[in-house]
Order: sequence, then structure tokens, then C-alpha cells
Amino acid sequence: MCGIVGYVGRDNAKNVIINGLKRLEYRGYDSAGLALIVNDEIKVFKRVGKIREFEIELNRLNIYSNIGIGHTRWATHGRPTLENAHPHLSCDGKIAVVHNGIVENYAPLKEELLSKGHTFTSQTDTEVIVHLIEEELKTSKGFFEAFLKTVNRLKGSFAICAITTAEPDKLFCARKDSPLVVGLGDDESFVASDVPAFLPYTNRAVFLEDGEVAVVDRKGALFYDFSRAPVKKEVMKIPWSLAQAEKGGYKHFMIKEIYEQPRAVADTISGNTAWFKGEIPLEGIEPSSFDRVQIVACGTSYHAGLIAKFFLENFAKIPAEVDYASEYRYRNPVVNDRTLVIAITQSGETADTLAAMRLAKSKGAKLLAVCNVIGSTATREADCVIYTYAGPEISVASTKAFTTQLTALYLFSLWLARERGALGTEEVEELYSHLLEIPSKIEAFLNRERQDETVKRIALEFYKSSDALYLGRHVNYPIALEGALKLKEISYIHAEGYPAGEMKHGPIALIDEKMPVIVVATKGSIYEKIVSNMEEVKARKGKVIALLNPGSPEAEKIADYKIEVPQVEEFLSPIVSVIPLQLFAYYIADFLGYDVDQPRNLAKSVTVE
Ligand code: M6R
Repeated sequence: MCGIVGYVGRDNAKNVIINGLKRLEYRGYDSAGLALIVNDEIKVFKRVGKIREFEIELNRLNIYSNIGIGHTRWATHGRPTLENAHPHLSCDGKIAVVHNGIVENYAPLKEELLSKGHTFTSQTDTEVIVHLIEEELKTSKGFFEAFLKTVNRLKGSFAICAITTAEPDKLFCARKDSPLVVGLGDDESFVASDVPAFLPYTNRAVFLEDGEVAVVDRKGALFYDFSRAPVKKEVMKIPWSLAQAEKGGYKHFMIKEIYEQPRAVADTISGNTAWFKGEIPLEGIEPSSFDRVQIVACGTSYHAGLIAKFFLENFAKIPAEVDYASEYRYRNPVVNDRTLVIAITQSGETADTLAAMRLAKSKGAKLLAVCNVIGSTATREADCVIYTYAGPEISVASTKAFTTQLTALYLFSLWLARERGALGTEEVEELYSHLLEIPSKIEAFLNRERQDETVKRIALEFYKSSDALYLGRHVNYPIALEGALKLKEISYIHAEGYPAGEMKHGPIALIDEKMPVIVVATKGSIYEKIVSNMEEVKARKGKVIALLNPGSPEAEKIADYKIEVPQVEEFLSPIVSVIPLQLFAYYIADFLGYDVDQPRNLAKSVTVE
């Protein structure tokens, strides 16, 4: 998730754009940049680090322009460096582009453009866009035609805004699977990734849909589809305050991030398709160079690791152990040069995970980091990196980071299974096709079937509980752990996650009529077993809240409350079943009036031991 701001109008573009970028900071940033048209020339300014420092630097410059584009980058391809910061320029310096999203076919496009003599100055996927426009201009009648030809050749997700000295009073923008909105002011117009960027100036907005482009000047905007057919758009009046707008109208970042999961999981898949399909190598990893895997992680990322063990052992048939990084680093693990250590970390800065990685490396292991933050310490120290492309996660309670980690680890396990010959290509393809269904299944659960309302109703009944028990088995046992962690960390209610089969060895003694017991009872190889465990809870008068798939009469009969989750392939079920548990914790914490996004005693990134 990057932030785009474009401006054309009566004011100094530099100031308007910087103010807009500051309001998009919640989208994450590691570097920022600005391009202005000054005396028929494009001037570019960039800086790595905080936007405030960039602002101070720009304030010292005596520069004035009525048109420009700006960008805060949250790296997806290429490290957060000055060269990789946007805007990017064409070879002749007459076109500048900012981009949000992932250009999936950037590798072949770059090759084509290099062979035609273009020079690249960054490692970003974005830079192909500006060179492609420049190339298409050679055979086009005007900039707009070249711009349209370019967007038609891009695969992946993009929100683009471009300026050119050939038409120095216009912003050209396009959207596919990445948000972009045009703001219409009085003798001034804006383009942005999100409304807060221009909300202090105007509340009149036109949202671009996928496959639409806009040509924007200070008097307004014209809209087209990718084939240049004009599109009639509706101007919306945004009723939100600035703070509301940053959260997309949601009350907290956590709930916003929960609802972002269909998009985030889709981005994880598309961002990792190239190596998964064998179009590019997964650099730094030789599939036959190890015969065991050790996974190290903390908190929610550790729970993703527990599920990854199922993926690795069942698909790739390779033994996998999972450790809390804080334990691993002190337990003198047996590691050698035939060990692959996978560090799972959203931030890439968790001190214990980094220490575990360093220990493993010192003992000869190869390191793979599954990480969300590009350029973070874990990604720099690992031999190989798989990014999760979840976008910045602001809420301390991890939600979309978890489901995207599972997605990335599922892809890696299938890739490994194919490369090591543990599964045939067809089996891998079939399992992969199940993964492709996941974003729409989550979407259906959240938005179409409105099961979130069911979860909210149940949360209202239980928010005063002092304890809760979460049960799951097999691949959903870690989901019980994750559900309990979510509840603990934001609602401060004591909660435990347990493998349901372990109940009779102790925890069943806790159950009485006041105890909510949340059971993941989705269909799969151990469905009947978990139904028996539900009976055990019921016999002790526990209140059973069951997560089940449609058409599960056995579980339904026992449950006091049911939450229906869509049925998916068994190994993928954790990605779906965790979502009601995230919502349950969220609503309980909200009913209790707690600071959901910043729970007491917790930090987003634990950079000390
Ligand atoms: O950034 P990391 O994935 O390394 O962070 C690990 C844990 O600190 C993190 O998952 C933590 O448990 C979350 N607050 C859970 O919601």
C-alpha cells in the first residue's frame, strides 16, 4: 500500500501534495517523492525516511508549480532506497509516474524495454510503466493514447498517476485493483489513493472503478474505460471527518484490516505468482538442499508457523518443527547445513525472531523469511524472502498479516512439493486452484452472508465473561490458539486455546455453565472427533459457540450458537475460520470500550528481548 497524491490548480502543488502525503501516512511509508512541472521541465525530489523530514527539506526550496504528483512508498519490489522511491522518470525526463500496486509482468516488459534501449535506474516494477509510455508515444497520436496502450499491457494491480511536459496542465490516471479517487475542488483538482489526502480542500469525490482512466485538469475530469469509451461518473459528497476517512469510515484500524483480508490475500497470491509458476526463480533457495525445516516466530506469526507445519509435512513431505523464537534461541537446537529455517514475521524486526535467525545461520542453516515489511532486518539477513504483500498493518492485533502469512506459506509448501517431486504438477495445480477461491470466500462471509452480524450478536452476549476456552483440532488447533490470543490481547479476558482432544486430560474441569467454549468444527478429516468433543463440553453445561460449515447437522444439534463459515479445502480452512474469531475479539473489546488498536502493555513491533 503506497500513497499517491496528484494536484493541478491555483495553489502551490508542492505544499498541497506534501500535506496530502502526510494524511496518507497510515498507508505505510519508507520513502517519499514529488515531481513538479517547472518551466516546461519535470523536477523530481525524493527522500528515504519520514515524510516530515522530506517536508522540512522541501520547505527550504524556493520552488513553485501548479501541477505535480507525489508518492509515499511502502516497498513491494525493490528496497526502500532513493533510487526506488517514486516518481520515476522516462529516459528523456519528460514523463513522470507514480504507482501503487504490483506490475506482475514487469520482468518481460523490462526485458523488452531494455532491448529497445531504455535505461533503468531503479529495481522497481513501477519504472517499466514510465518507459512503456515513452515507448508507446513513438507510435501514438498524443500522450493519452500512449498512456492507454500502456495500461492495457500491464498485468497485476495498479493505481497510476502520470504527468508530462507535453501537456503540462493535466494529470493522467488509471486504476485496476488498487484504489484511486479524483477530488474536484474550486479551480483545482486532486488525484489520490484515498480521500483524506484532499479532504481539507474538497469533499467532492469521484471514485475510479477497475478498468477506468481519468484525465484531470483544474476545471474537472473526464473519465474513460481502457478502450477509450467515455464513462459517466457520479460525484459523491464525502460525509466523513478526516480521522474517520483515514480508517475508511471504520471505527478502528483493526476492523478495517479485518475487512481488507479478501484484497490482502489476493495480493499475496498475485505478488508471489511469478516464482510459484516457475516464471522466475525463488532466489536464494535450492529445493533439494535441505531435508528438514525449522520454523521460528512469535505470537500470531508462531501460530501461522504451526499451520505451515501441516502444509510442509502433508504436501512437501518434509519434516518440520515449530518453535517460539524466544525459546529456540536458548535451547541449543540441532541445526546443520541441511536445515532450512523459516522465520515468519510481519514486521521483520522482532528481536527474538532475529536472534533465532542469527543463531540458525551461525550453525549453517539456510534462512527463509516470510515477511510483510520490505527492507526490514529479517529480509536483509535472510537468504531468501517471500513477501506477504498485506499492506501496512497499523492495529497492534495482527489480522491480515496472519491470513497472508498462511497464504504465502501454503504457496511455498506447494512449490516445494512440486520441486521435490512430493506432489505431481496436476495435484499442485488443483490445490492452488482451491487457494484462488479463498478471497471470494472471505468476501462472502464478511459482506454477502453478513455473518459478521451473527458474530457481533454473540459477542454482545459474552462480552462480560471472565474466561473463554477455544478448541480446535488438526489444522485448526492453531486457530484456537490464535482466537484466544486475539481475545486476550485486546479485551483483557482470560482465554485459552486447546487441542479439543486434550480436554479430557485436564481442562475439561474448567467447564461450567458460565464458560463460553468456542469450537472450530468445520468439515474435514476429524469432523466427527470434534463433534464428540463438543458433546463432552455440552455434558458439562458449557456454552458452545460453534464455527461450522453449512450442512453440518451433527455439530448444529449440539451448538448453542452457530457461526457459518464457507467450506473450503481442509488445509485452507484456517484462513477462513480465523476471521470470525478476529471479529469476536474485536466486538468484545469494542463493547468493553477498550482501545482496540493500541491495547495496554503492547507494542506493534517487539524490537527488544
Ligand atoms: O512482527 P512479528 O510478526 O514478528 O510479530 C510477532 C508478534 O509480536 C505479533 O504477532 C503479536 O503476537 C501480535 N500482536 C498478535 O496480534
